[in-house]
Order: sequence, then structure tokens, then C-alpha cells
Amino acid sequence: MANQSNRRVLLARRPDGPLSRDCFQVETSQCSTLEDGQLLIEANCLSIDAFIRTVMYEEAYHGSVPVGGTLVALGVGRVLESRSPEFEAGDGVFGPIGAQTHAVVPASLFRKVDESVAPLRAWVGALGVTTGLTAYFGIRAVGCVQPGETVVVSAAAGAVGSVAAQIARIDGGRVIGIAGGPDKCRFLTEELGLDGAVDYKSDDVEGALRELAPDGVDVYFDNVGGELLDVVLDQIREKARIVICGAISQYESMESVRGPSLYLRLAERHARMEGFAVNFFETRYGEAQRELSIWLKRGELVMHEHVFSGIDQFPEALLAMFSGGHRGKLIVEP
Ligand SMILES: NC(=O)c1ccc[n+]([C@@H]2O[C@H](COP(=O)([O-])OP(=O)(O)OC[C@H]3O[C@@H](n4cnc5c(N)ncnc54)[C@H](OP(=O)(O)O)[C@@H]3O)[C@@H](O)[C@H]2O)c1
Repeated sequence: MANQSNRRVLLARRPDGPLSRDCFQVETSQCSTLEDGQLLIEANCLSIDAFIRTVMYEEAYHGSVPVGGTLVALGVGRVLESRSPEFEAGDGVFGPIGAQTHAVVPASLFRKVDESVAPLRAWVGALGVTTGLTAYFGIRAVGCVQPGETVVVSAAAGAVGSVAAQIARIDGGRVIGIAGGPDKCRFLTEELGLDGAVDYKSDDVEGALRELAPDGVDVYFDNVGGELLDVVLDQIREKARIVICGAISQYESMESVRGPSLYLRLAERHARMEGFAVNFFETRYGEAQRELSIWLKRGELVMHEHVFSGIDQFPEALLAMFSGGHRGKLIVEP
């Protein structure tokens, strides 16, 4: 194929505090010529995920992006050209495309998606590894929500949180979401049908939670960490499960992560706190995607999207994740 032009987002400098636009640079270049075992992919939807922020550090759990390197991003796209026997032009695929419009990538890192089950974009959202699957395994395998239990979810209006809250409802939980602002709280109760919502930006969170969950909390699905974790820990019931999915309040400065000071409530109430990384469940992705796609088709699960158009908007989309203006899944359509 003729030289394919590519527009991509580079890490211009490592952030030394909250993210800012000057950490990024957007440039146009040419894709390299395909070699055996490689694919040329046109990106269709890029997933904005919290781990993109953490790989901007020099050392990070998910690996580190060098200054001047293309930012990482998972996404779905279409194969334009294939030099792998397992793919052909036109296939819809999911994998680490990067923050760019086009990518020449090793075929071994990509999976074909079944567009008869759900449209291409659903494979970064409700059926996506970092969204639907993370919520599914956090609720089912770690939180083990039982009918009638009281479940609290933080960042409940976001991507993982909104799916986790809905799965907990499907599993018979009484679900209370925590989110920032009255609009998001209305979204939780009126559009997602949750049993209650707490606005952590203006409510007295401790008091509001006691009112909504007078008998205490059985499962806390935590996306936020920091102070909120302590507030909920203080209100857990015996045998509660605290699911550590993430701690977005702590990612802007990994040097001073604040852990829970009320962790002794775990001992006092015979409770457990368990973290998880979704990739540990890789062998069960198919099972989860089947179930999630059925809920989607029946309308029992809804995935709201907040879409940024154009790859030049990628930095703004990542900034939005921390300022919290979105509902549901943050996506960039390059
Ligand atoms: N364990 C795993 O394998 C795994 C996989 C994927 C993601 N995750 C984790 O899942 C969590 C959610 O990710 P997501 O992609 O679904 O993001 P998201 O919830 O769509 O976006 C993040 C939300 O966090 C809230 N937030 C941001 N800063 C905050 C702060 N300082 N205090 C309280 N809330 C804050 C904002 O909502 P408000 O407007 O409500 O503040 C924002 O909308 C992250 O912690 C991420 O690391 C874990």
C-alpha cells in the first residue's frame, strides 16, 4: 500500500503535577511499510483510560512511555492491510492501537471482534477490557454481590462505575452511587435507576451515606481511593467486601499516595479488602462478554458515551477524565 499518513499524539514532557495541555504534542508522520506478521489499522474508537495517565511517569506498573513517544491507547479499528494469515482487510479488531489515526502493529497483539454480537465501538465500552470487563469481574468475582446487599460505587457516573453499578443492580443489590455534582447524581438515579446517589462535591458524604444505608455497606466498589475510602470504611457491615478497582484521586502524584487510615475496620468487622487487575481474568473474557452483550441487547445495561472528535482532541479527553465533566465512557473518534 502507498505510504499511509498518520496523525499521532506524543508525550512532549512528563507531568510533574496535574496534567496540562503542554504535556502533549500532535504531529503528522508516515506509517512504516508493512512487514510479515504486521497489520495496518485505521483507528475507529480510542478508549480514554486512567492508566494512560500513569504510563506518563518514568516508572509505572503498566510500563512507561518515553518522552517523544506515541501515547498508549487501547482501541478498536479496521484492518486496511494485513500480512498475517489470521486477519484480512476489513476485519474489525481490538488492541493497543496507540493515540493515533493509523498504526502498523504486530498482529499478535490484536483480536478480531465479532460485530454480529455488538457494534465495533461496544468493544471499547460495555464489552471492553478496561470498562465492561473490569466492572463485571470487580462485581462478580471480587465483590461477590448477593441479592439484597447494599452496594456503594464511587465514580459511579463514569465508565467502569456506571457499568459496575448496573451489574450490581442486575445481581439484586441495593445500589448507591457516589459522583460529583447534582446532574451526575440525577443521572444515577433517574437514568441508571440506582437506589440512591451521593454528591461528594457538596453533600456531607458521611451523613448522606448513613441516611441511604442505615444498616451499613456490604460491598464498596472503589474507583477513587483517598478520603472517600475512609468514609465508606467507617460504615461497612460485618463480612463486607471492599473492591479496590482503582484510585483516581491519587494518580496525579504517585509519590504521595494516601492509603486508608481506617483499615482497622476490616479487622473489627471481619471484612476484606481486595484489589484486582482485569487482565488476571483473561481466560474468562469470553464468558463475561457473552453475558454483558445479552444485558445490552435486553436494555438492562446501558453504556453512555462522551465522544471527542478528532485525534487532536485526545489530550482534552484525557484531561476530562480528571476534571470529571463526562458521563459513561470517554472515547476519541480519531
Ligand atoms: N483494576 C483494573 O483492572 C482497572 C481497569 C480499568 C480501570 N480501572 C480503574 O477504574 C477507575 C475508573 O476508570 P474509568 O476509565 O471508568 O474512568 P471514569 O470513571 O470514566 O472517569 C474518572 C471519574 O473519576 C472521578 N474523579 C476524578 N478525579 C477524582 C477525584 N479526585 N476524586 C473523586 N472522583 C474523581 C470523575 O468523576 P466525578 O465527576 O464524579 O468526580 C471522573 O469522571 C479508575 O480508578 C481506573 O484506574 C481499573
